[in-house]
Amino acid sequence: MLYSALLSLSILVSSLNQVEAWVDPFFVVQHGPDLITSRIDPVINPGAVSSHVHSIIGSSAFKPTYTYENSMSGKCTTANVDIDRSNYWTPQLYRKRTDGKFDLVKMNRANTYYLVRRGSQTETVHEFPPGFRMIAGNPSRTTYNASSYADNAVSYVCLGVNGAPETGAFPTQSCPSDLRAQVFFPNCWNGVDNWLPGSAHVAYPTTQGYNSGGKCPSTHPNRIMSIFYEFHFTDNFAYTPGARVWATGDDVGYSLHADFTFGWPKNFLSGIIPYGETCAVDFSLENCPPLKPHLVNNGSACTPDAGFQIVNEDIGTNGPVAKLPGNNPVWGRSGAKVPDPNYKETASFSTSTIAVPAGWSKLGCLAEPSGSRALTAASTTSQTMTPTQCINYCASKGYSLAGVEWSVECYCGNTTTKTSLSAINNNLACNMPCNGLDYAAGYCGGSSLLTIYQKTGNTVASSAAKVASSSAKPSSSSVKSSASSKTSTSTTSKASTTSKASTTTSKASATTIKSSTSSSSLKSTLIAKVASSIAKTSTASASASTTKAAIHKRRLHH
Ligand SMILES: *[C@@H]1O[C@H](CO)[C@@H](O)[C@H](O)[C@H]1NC(C)=O
Ligand SMILES: *[C@@H]1O[C@H](CO)[C@@H](O)[C@H](O)[C@H]1NC(C)=O
Ligand SMILES: *[C@@H]1O[C@H](CO)[C@@H](O)[C@H](O)[C@H]1NC(C)=O
Repeated sequence: MLYSALLSLSILVSSLNQVEAWVDPFFVVQHGPDLITSRIDPVINPGAVSSHVHSIIGSSAFKPTYTYENSMSGKCTTANVDIDRSNYWTPQLYRKRTDGKFDLVKMNRANTYYLVRRGSQTETVHEFPPGFRMIAGNPSRTTYNASSYADNAVSYVCLGVNGAPETGAFPTQSCPSDLRAQVFFPNCWNGVDNWLPGSAHVAYPTTQGYNSGGKCPSTHPNRIMSIFYEFHFTDNFAYTPGARVWATGDDVGYSLHADFTFGWPKNFLSGIIPYGETCAVDFSLENCPPLKPHLVNNGSACTPDAGFQIVNEDIGTNGPVAKLPGNNPVWGRSGAKVPDPNYKETASFSTSTIAVPAGWSKLGCLAEPSGSRALTAASTTSQTMTPTQCINYCASKGYSLAGVEWSVECYCGNTTTKTSLSAINNNLACNMPCNGLDYAAGYCGGSSLLTIYQKTGNTVASSAAKVASSSAKPSSSSVKSSASSKTSTSTTSKASTTSKASTTTSKASATTIKSSTSSSSLKSTLIAKVASSIAKTSTASASASTTKAAIHKRRLHH
């Protein structure tokens, strides 16, 4: 583990420095799966569609542009420290298939380390100013220079393989317990700028290594905390050279990079430094007094704030994509990147909120009673399930409670059985994406967990739910996809890239009601088909629902 590497490094540093030995704080913030996966990079391309897809964690306020104040006022964070409203992101990983298409490889969890690395115990560690942001790594790098701290700072660890070395390029074997992509940020700052192009406001130390308290360059004399990312990607695939491809198109691994936007309360981080060894806690944040009151374990339940934006394109959420999103032909093993000169950017942002029909509201996450179900009056399953679809189904049968579960299931009732609405608990992991919505747009329960909606008003659903544009897939494709799980992949992805589909929202949602009602008679066939398709594709590469289910089982162990 990196922990031991860092520890041995700090032992080395302190033994070199025997006169003055001390222990500085270091702690690890843990994150659930991604908040948003989209072609957005507010640091490099603020307000615009970025060049490649990123996997983003942190504050729910994340948008194509935002301020420190926006970050701080987000409704939640993916972090296990509720006052950490920073955002952190890296490129999204893909897997090139033998048919030349690309499967999205979900980031399943991430750790963000905060470490104090300095030359002496009296060296000031400066607080990040509000608005501070930085990047590390280079998205077009094609070489590895063993003497360059910037290159050393980007690495991989192959988990589940005994003694696998830390490597600068993708490991040359499969990693049964995840591929861990790692980036260590510079810890020397010019003391003036929140950002400079190319992240020139920050620099690595001049001596002792990229992750050390070595002397800062005279141009960047101010020490800041060291930040280090570990992003975990599922990698239990048979090893195929060149199959791992970053969203940049790089199949070697040198283009890994990372972005950070600061989002802690002012002066909080510098307040930790005087705690010294007490706050050198690794993952055990409860032992660090300033952090302890802010620990939560519901980061995986954090969803983007209402009105968040994603790029309206198929990134591979519902099955393989023929090309990497953006102008990203594969490069790396074949040499430097050669972008398509005729590429025209056609993607744009769509505002995505999970609206629900008028008169209904979301109550939260409810665990199914052991061995039975909370809502027993009616149920349906759909490969294009959304909260709206489920609510409309339950409303059409006269019920006042609707619950979505396991991405595709819908349950209705007027009362709960063997549990009660007072057991609703948003710390539970209702974090499985709705099959009928783009990945980040919303969540439809979890494993044995219902996201519950209730009819609250007397208002008849007059202004039929404004469905998120991304969910407006024509009902014909829903019918097709539910009839045959084989075709669902291609039909769904086609539908989501058709701009027509998103303009026919009201029509689509009206017909969705019809198709979902009639689908109740198909239920048993459908479930059987879904089950068999899941069984067939246990590699998690082909079936969208399998992939979604697998990656959302948050593993708390490290
Ligand atoms: C490798 O990095 C070192 C340290 O930054 C630098 O001095 C050297 O010029 C680099 N070599 C190449 C070939 O870029
Ligand atoms: C997690 O729990 C905290 C504390 O109870 C709460 O403030 C926060 O809103 C919760 N987050 C989510 C995503 O439910
Ligand atoms: C459910 O309750 C509503 C009143 O809230 C009632 O109008 C409706 O008939 C009930 N439905 C069933 C199926 O019992």
